[in-house]
Amino acid sequence: MKRRHFLKSVALTGAACLMLPRGPLFGADAPSNKLNVALIGTWGRGGAHFDFLKKENVVALCDVNEEHLASATPRFPNAKTYVDWRQCLEQKDINAVMICTADHTHAFIANWAMNRGHHVYCEKPLANSVEEARVVRANYLQRKGKIATQVGTQRHEYENFNRVRELVLDGAIGELKNVCAWGNRKLGRPGYLPAQGEPPKHLHYDLWIGPSPMHPFNPGYFSGGPGMNCLQWNMYWDFGTGQVGDMGSHTMDLAWNGIDATLPTTAEGKGDPLNPEVSPVKLEMHFDLPANTWRKPIRVSWYQGGAMPTSPTPYVDLNKIGHGAMFEGSKGYLIADFQSRILIPSSNDGSLTYYKPRKETEVLPRMGNFQSEWGNACKGNLKTSCNFEYGGNMIEMMMLGVVAYRAGKKLEYDPEKGVVTNSTEANAMIKRTYRPGWTLNG
Ligand SMILES: NC(=O)c1ccc[n+]([C@@H]2O[C@H](COP(=O)([O-])OP(=O)(O)OC[C@H]3O[C@@H](n4cnc5c(N)ncnc54)[C@H](O)[C@@H]3O)[C@@H](O)[C@H]2O)c1
Repeated sequence: MKRRHFLKSVALTGAACLMLPRGPLFGADAPSNKLNVALIGTWGRGGAHFDFLKKENVVALCDVNEEHLASATPRFPNAKTYVDWRQCLEQKDINAVMICTADHTHAFIANWAMNRGHHVYCEKPLANSVEEARVVRANYLQRKGKIATQVGTQRHEYENFNRVRELVLDGAIGELKNVCAWGNRKLGRPGYLPAQGEPPKHLHYDLWIGPSPMHPFNPGYFSGGPGMNCLQWNMYWDFGTGQVGDMGSHTMDLAWNGIDATLPTTAEGKGDPLNPEVSPVKLEMHFDLPANTWRKPIRVSWYQGGAMPTSPTPYVDLNKIGHGAMFEGSKGYLIADFQSRILIPSSNDGSLTYYKPRKETEVLPRMGNFQSEWGNACKGNLKTSCNFEYGGNMIEMMMLGVVAYRAGKKLEYDPEKGVVTNSTEANAMIKRTYRPGWTLNG
């Protein structure tokens, strides 16, 4: 009897004692069909993946903090342990890598892992600069038929993402014109923290700094709780990109999932006065995106930290939606947060008679668990919802907006070449400067 049929018949007869037939298992459950995963960054967000990981073979664990490493080893006792991800990636039996480190190392580890032929899941944001986004995407595209990749924007699994997409694609708001997303988090910081004490013995601080310029140790960078510690360092330019890369990754995903976007041709950004050390709290960025096969060119915007789009009607207070997206069409508006949406037909021609909701059989299927989508893709058709092409394009747009904000002018962008065509000064800002000895694409 096949395992699936056996389980079904056990369930039907309500058998109290579950005995599996002996013999080898085939398919996704087979021991031979498990991924050999390296988890890099084992605490905090890394822990959010343990449920997924316990179904696979975790063969390597890596963390710059030896206490964090030690807290994960009992769960994965067969894994070899490392403090330097470059040494970890030399382990020969790895075939998949999950990256849960601080933002400024994501693109490095993703590139090194792909260059060794591994499947990669990388926490958001995928990159901290335009250049990093382009290199990661190019590496993925070169190996598209061989590896599966996923950016860790797990809210994408909410069914609302597809319901929003269907409403936009099926014309519920007419012809699409403008799209925006926003977030209300405010994490003001004055500048890099002053030197305070020595790094504890269990923390390899030099490795934590990694490719970024050195900054003196301060325990404040490490004072957040598990999964929230990113909020202690992500406002500093050398470690993160503030809310642009943090909630911006999740919330712009809600918007991008409905617009089949490609890279922008312009970027603008304005907000708090520029601080060369920390990312602004208040910021808005605007982009022109080219037409695609089903829509004309559109304008896409990101607002954060108090900057907000204007509500189409006084009775909808967008400020009450902490993180949301709004789609403006010729016949109305669609407003959404991660798990719900409202449709506002325009008062003139928004009769909705032009729009036919999908039949039940035509709605986009559930994607299921986000991490499992990647795991199954690694073992199967390599297709994921947030691969490094989709995620790479999205973060490239966002990082270009940061360049426009820092340059203080509207930028013209050549998306093919990845070049700002109207400002040499801004063009120089599409890359970060790395410490000697660190290679982005190694
Ligand atoms: N998808 C989500 O909803 C979500 C939620 C929270 C955080 N995140 C992302 O997850 C990542 C980690 O966030 P966090 O709050 O857990 O931060 P954290 O500072 O707690 O870091 C996580 C772990 O990675 C280790 N680490 C850091 N740099 C490393 C390196 N170079 N090599 C090896 N280990 C390293 C740390 O010691 C720590 O154990 C961030 O990029 C953040 O943006 C995503």
